[in-house]
Parts: sequence; C-alpha cells; structure tokens
Amino acid sequence: MSEKTAVTFAPGLEGVVATRTRLSNVDGAAGRLVIAGFPVEELAVRASFEEMLYLLWNGALPDAEELAALRRDLAAVRVVSQTTKDVLEAVAAEKVPPMDALRMASGTLGSRDGDDRDDALRLVAAFPTIVAAHRRLSQGNEPVEPRPELSHAANYLYMLSGEVPSAEQVQALETYLNTVSDHGMNASTFTARVIVSTRSDLVSAVVGAVGALKGPLHGGAPGPALDVVFEIGEASRAESYLRAKLDRGERLMGFGHRVYKVRDPRADVLASAAERLYATDADRDLYRLALEVEKAAIRLLEEYKPGRNLDTNVEFYTALLLHGLRLPPELFTPTFAVGRVAGWTAHCFEQRELDRLIRPQSEYVGAEGRAWEPVEER
Ligand code: COA
Repeated sequence: MSEKTAVTFAPGLEGVVATRTRLSNVDGAAGRLVIAGFPVEELAVRASFEEMLYLLWNGALPDAEELAALRRDLAAVRVVSQTTKDVLEAVAAEKVPPMDALRMASGTLGSRDGDDRDDALRLVAAFPTIVAAHRRLSQGNEPVEPRPELSHAANYLYMLSGEVPSAEQVQALETYLNTVSDHGMNASTFTARVIVSTRSDLVSAVVGAVGALKGPLHGGAPGPALDVVFEIGEASRAESYLRAKLDRGERLMGFGHRVYKVRDPRADVLASAAERLYATDADRDLYRLALEVEKAAIRLLEEYKPGRNLDTNVEFYTALLLHGLRLPPELFTPTFAVGRVAGWTAHCFEQRELDRLIRPQSEYVGAEGRAWEPVEER
C-alpha cells in the first residue's frame, strides 16, 4: 500500500509556517514586534512613513538622497486617473461603504507591464487619494487635490479636511501608519502572497488584501471598539455594559489575538501616541474613560474566558488615536489599509523572489461512491 502524504488538518492554519520573511517578527508569547530589525516602539515614533516604506521595500533605512527620491516618486503619482475618479464619484453616489470603494477604486489602478515596483509605488501613493476623495464625495464635497510638497501622511490629512495639519497631528498619524505597516503572516498579507504566488500582478494582490482586511476579525474592529467606549459613556457603567455583552456571547472588539497571548505591543505605542495627542485637547476625558473600559474588559475576559489570555490588541487604541485625529469611524479600516499597503507590497516583492505557488491541501470529508441520477428521477 502506498504511503499517503502526511497531512494534518490545521483549521485556520494555526502553527503552520508558510513562508520566511525579513519584514517583521511577531513574538506572541513575549508580546514583541520587530519590524525589519527595529522594535516597533522605537521605529514607529521616529520614522516618517516614507522611511518606513523604504525600509520595508529595501531592507535598510534610506540615506538623505534616497529618502528625497522616494518622497518625490511617491508624490508624483498621487493624482489618480479620470477612470479612478469616475468610479469614486459613482460609488459615492450609491453610498458604497469606504472599504468597498477602496477595493473597487484600487482595482482601476491597473498593472503596467508587470512592473512590480511601479505598481507598488502607484498603489501606496494612491490609497490616501482614493480614501480621502471618496470620503469628501460621500459628504457632498469636492475632492481636494493632493499637494506634492506635503509628506505622505500630511497630505492624507490635508486631502481629508482641506487644511494643512499640525506637526503633532502628522507625527501621530505617522506613528499609527508605521505601527500597522506590517505584521507577519496576517490574513490580508497572506491573501496578497497567495495571489502573487500564482504569478499574478501586485494590483490584483492588493485588491484581494483589501477584501481580507475589511472583515471584523481582522481590520474591521476599531470602529466598533470606539462605539463601545462612547456607548459606555462613563467609567461606572463599564462593568455592567461589558458583562451584558459577554452574557449575550458577543466578542469585545479590540481584545484578543490569534498570535499575541499577552498585551499587543502595538497597543502601547498607540496608547502613548493617543495620550500625547489628547494632552492638548478637551477629549482627554475620553482617553481616561478608555483606560477604565480597557481595565474592566481585561478583568471580565479573564472571568468569562479563564486561561484564554485575552488582552488588548492594536484596534482598541487605533480607535482612540484616529478619533483624536478627527477621523470618523468609517475611515478607521481604510486608514489601516493606507498603512498596511506598505507591508502588503513588500511581501509581494518577497513572494515574487520566492516564486513558489502557495497551494495547501484539504481533507475530504464529503460523500463517497454516489451513483448519478438523472434530474427527472431525483
Ligand atoms: N471577546 C470575547 N471573547 C473572545 C474574544 C473577545 N474579543 N476573543 C476571543 N474570545 C473567546 C472566543 O470566543 C473563544 O471562546 P470559546 O473557546 O469559549 O469559544 C476563546 O476566546 C478563544 O478564541 P478564538 O476564537 O480561538 O481566538 P482566535 O484566535 O480565533 O481569535 C480574534 C482571534 C482576534 C479573531 C478574536 O480574539 C476576536 O474576535 N477579537 C475581537 C475582534 C478584534 O478585536 N479583532 C482585531 C484583531 S487585531
């Protein structure tokens, strides 16, 4: 009898190592995240988005000249084509939600002769333009054209509001974008790599990744997480509110992680950035309330799900930070995509180099030995 291939069913591919990457190392037990050799807490607050992008794409930080060239190249392709603008106008008129609009509009970016670097540049550059234009059109406003002299992060905020943001706001957004720029073999990155592994193009890979990021178990959590804080309203109501949710069998958004079994290190980076942003703002009460909600949630999760080690994840403080930047909850997941597209494209480059089709197996549990019956006899 021929030996069968040793196949073990791993639902959700837990514990399966599907690739090697030099981009980021997620240590779930220690609660550490290293991005291209740097601890996230060091890199996220110091690097500009462009420096982070260069690091992911090239494996080293840029010198001044290389950085200037990347800034220039990105800024040069911020303006989207008339086709992309037409799609955005049409979907805004139909009240299509922002993540679906991003998926559709980024699909119009087209792939140019299989030039991966060119595709990646145009994708990263166009994401903020698409998200901001769709937002403004949905609000009945004209889109604001990008300004080439502004940095990537500053220009995103500018295109949303029409006002040049403060240095503090830009730094807070860059900290966020850098923090979420890459994170091991998460679902959307895996999606992008699967698509590139078929020798398809980067635009296709990124469109697929946007679809994966949209789900509430991946990038869709921060909006609901903030809703919870608002609905609770004051610290004394946190426990009863969260208890009622858990009694109904609901999940608390912003808590728990497939890999981290301790506090997500990105939560700390974003909590500090949010605190700095709120320090100059009347919303400081909201920040204090969020801390109380977080404490109550962790305590109750241990009570309801003992031993599961459910702790704060990146989404909880994402919500707080992006709210501090005056972004509405509908833009939280698209803004996540504005940061994560850096990692997606870098993973696509790696996958292209590896050039190995990703094709796992499945265990068949369906029927056997059926006999065909013509339709009139069924
Ligand atoms: N609130 C309440 N219970 C939770 C929970 C949460 N946020 N996260 C996990 N659990 C529970 C599960 O229901 C499960 O309980 P059970 O064994 O009694 O059925 C147990 O904890 C283990 O969870 P599991 O589903 O195996 O975890 P996972 O690895 O599949 O899930 C997430 C990881 C992120 C999908 C999950 O923690 C979650 O849904 N979190 C909320 C959404 C969120 O914040 N997503 C953003 C992630 S960065």
